[in-house]
Amino acid sequence: MPKSRNITWSHSLVTRQARQERYKHTGAILWFTGLSGSGKSTLAKAVEQTLFERGCQTYILDGDNVRFGLNRDLGFSPDDRTENIRRIGEVAKLFMDAGAIVLTAFISPYRTDRDANREIVGEGEFLEIYAKCSLEECENRDPKGLYKKARAGEIPEFTGISAPYEEPLNPEIVVETDQYSVGECVMQVVGRLEELGILS
Ligand code: ADX
Repeated sequence: MPKSRNITWSHSLVTRQARQERYKHTGAILWFTGLSGSGKSTLAKAVEQTLFERGCQTYILDGDNVRFGLNRDLGFSPDDRTENIRRIGEVAKLFMDAGAIVLTAFISPYRTDRDANREIVGEGEFLEIYAKCSLEECENRDPKGLYKKARAGEIPEFTGISAPYEEPLNPEIVVETDQYSVGECVMQVVGRLEELGILS
């Protein structure tokens, strides 16, 4: 429940239907989740580029960027991660209401936080995409050198090392980023989006 009292919801005069007719697709949230280094961000960016080239209205909310601005007051404690994901869910919903296919790329380690974001939008509008990659492979990649630091005890509460990652139970899409190339994973995601009717 909001803290404010005496507030009422206001509707735009531009309907969702009108936006869909103009943009030729429905709004949706493509929620990428996975360990740090699993390829969420790489994949989300590549999928966004493909969708944009196909004429879709797209927007990406990606990793650390949000922590420089909107969520600059949040760290990596369980409560802060929950608030991080809650705010990102609300922002993604706004972009989706504006007609965009929104792609988000955050670890989002807690199932309840991801499920809560699924709940704030309509049926079929939230698609969970699991960038599945073994911890071993993420550590091998270690693009930002963070696993090394976490193993050395320099980063507390690091996901996969000293903080949990809860795998999705029923994601709409699973891409095994340690088995397939980026290009193959993009094709798998786009193919599924067509099957699910998000793309024509
Ligand atoms: S989330 O858990 O709240 O969803 P988010 O996706 O915003 O995390 O941020 C994860 C990124 O922050 C990682 O890819 C990494 O670059 C950086 N990071 C810094 N400290 C940590 C930490 N303790 N655990 C996980 N990621 C961290």
